[in-house]
Amino acid sequence: MDDAAAVKTKGRWALAVQPFLALPVVALCVLLYAPRIFFAAPAPYGAIVGFFGPTSTGSTSSSVAQLGLEHVGGGGDDADREDGGAPQQVLDNQMDSPCSSLPNHTICCDRSDYHSDVCFMAGDVRTDAASLSLLLFPPAPGGGTAVVEERIRPYTRKWDGYITKTIHEVRLRVARPEEAAGHRCDVRHDAPVHVVTAGGYSHNLFHMFNDGFLPLWLTAQHLRRRVVLAVLSYSPRWAGSYGEIISGLSGYHVVDLLRDKRTHCFPGAIIGTRYHDYLAVNSTRLRDNKTIVDFHRFLAEVYDEPKDSSSSSSKPESPPLGRPRLGIVSRKGRRVIENQAAVARLAASVGFDVEIMETATGAPLSAVYASVSSYDALVGVHGADLTTLLFLRPGRAALAQIAPLGITLLSRNLFGVPAARMGLHYEQYDVGARESSLSRRYPADHVVVADPARARREQGGKEWELVEHVYLRGQNVSLDLGRFRDTLARMHSRLKERQQSQVSSADALPQT
Ligand SMILES: *[C@@H]1O[C@H](CO)[C@@H](O)[C@H](O)[C@H]1NC(C)=O
Ligand SMILES: *[C@@H]1O[C@H](CO)[C@@H](O)[C@H](O)[C@H]1NC(C)=O
Ligand SMILES: *[C@@H]1O[C@H](CO)[C@@H](O)[C@H](O)[C@H]1NC(C)=O
Ligand SMILES: *[C@@H]1O[C@H](CO)[C@@H](O)[C@H](O)[C@H]1NC(C)=O
Repeated sequence: MDDAAAVKTKGRWALAVQPFLALPVVALCVLLYAPRIFFAAPAPYGAIVGFFGPTSTGSTSSSVAQLGLEHVGGGGDDADREDGGAPQQVLDNQMDSPCSSLPNHTICCDRSDYHSDVCFMAGDVRTDAASLSLLLFPPAPGGGTAVVEERIRPYTRKWDGYITKTIHEVRLRVARPEEAAGHRCDVRHDAPVHVVTAGGYSHNLFHMFNDGFLPLWLTAQHLRRRVVLAVLSYSPRWAGSYGEIISGLSGYHVVDLLRDKRTHCFPGAIIGTRYHDYLAVNSTRLRDNKTIVDFHRFLAEVYDEPKDSSSSSSKPESPPLGRPRLGIVSRKGRRVIENQAAVARLAASVGFDVEIMETATGAPLSAVYASVSSYDALVGVHGADLTTLLFLRPGRAALAQIAPLGITLLSRNLFGVPAARMGLHYEQYDVGARESSLSRRYPADHVVVADPARARREQGGKEWELVEHVYLRGQNVSLDLGRFRDTLARMHSRLKERQQSQVSSADALPQT
């Protein structure tokens, strides 16, 4: 039983739990109907993203410096400063969008997408906290286009009425020239604003990335941090949990849009985010052809490279030829691997160095990133924690998803397809009836275990209740070790092949 020695539990974070950071790596319990939980906890964690102080009645023009709008320099920041002047900023990075060529002093909304609306404003944009509006001031007199008010709830699930109505509605309109006197700038920014929400299904890591940060990135990454985030439902907890990502997206302080009553002025605005697909970046829809691999690189930059130590790429060039490292996601409560210890020993006997990755430990996301990005393979039952597949090394690592009874297709769509798009080797292990704890609750010939697809169809409009309560929340798995060995062995030999080919191609390169 020497294999047991190769299995170690990642326990150190249990000692370093920071309660206010309890990471929302919770079950991907419910996708379409998730628990309506919003964080209410106060969090003593405002350091990264500061509020602005109390309303200043200072000058209308030169307040930039005193308000600390320092531009935090970052990699690649100079590439878009070609002509030194005030370049016409392309706010909309999407191909073939009605808003891609936005004349100055106009508002444009693209509402053509099923998932999200997004609006753009070019010109003199000012916040009006009282009415949660962005006002666009055309040059006097009579420069404005027709005064139409646009309204938008900036979230990526507009088809999901339940959650969408919890998102604050922002109003956008062209102001009348005489309104300018009542809207003098308290804070003048030299970068456009991007209005997003920290609300929505914010308890769940999958939703945080899928509905929040990935859409935010693909909507505004082309601005290279020259964008001010103005956030609805801002909370210090959000800022603390995702501080690295937030400062990777924007080089400026975040504006807490609901609490900050001052008039902030910007040279343009983006309101809302684009959405492409589950954990997807569709490069053909972006002007700069970015892909999900670029999003991974973004994460690698924000988590790997400390901001102050300049670019000495300290990552090992190629992995050693040792045993591939495998992380087993260890869930709690539901969709648990009942024979996890045996599975870990099995993986070790197949040739992996095995690490148990406890979830919901309160570890900061940077620590989760450090673990997962060091794995050659990640194994886990379907759940939000598998969102960390985004941390695996594209083109090199592997993901094995264990799909419980009744959610095989959901599993494939949510994590399998994205994993493949990242160039990960993907294995899906579909649990059989006998491996599911549901076989202890239902007789073998009951439709719920005998034919989940039919069970779901027979529910009609209540299909998702069955999925939620029975297949997602009511099920653990106990893997058939003989069958699962095949999955692990396939993954192991594929990883060894990749290691070999990387070593030989590294040998072929001239050493520098
Ligand atoms: C848009 O108009 C504002 C004044 O309202 C002006 O300062 C800015 O330079 C204009 N932008 C462009 C790209 O012409
Ligand atoms: C990417 O977007 C293009 C253009 O909208 C679309 O035709 C294509 O089907 C999308 N690709 C995927 C994989 O969704
Ligand atoms: C994006 O891809 C298209 C089509 O392959 C190409 O014409 C274009 O130059 C690419 N753009 C960038 C910024 O790489
Ligand atoms: C699944 O396992 C967990 C942990 O052992 C247990 O608390 C839970 O009740 C189990 N659920 C089912 C449906 O067996």
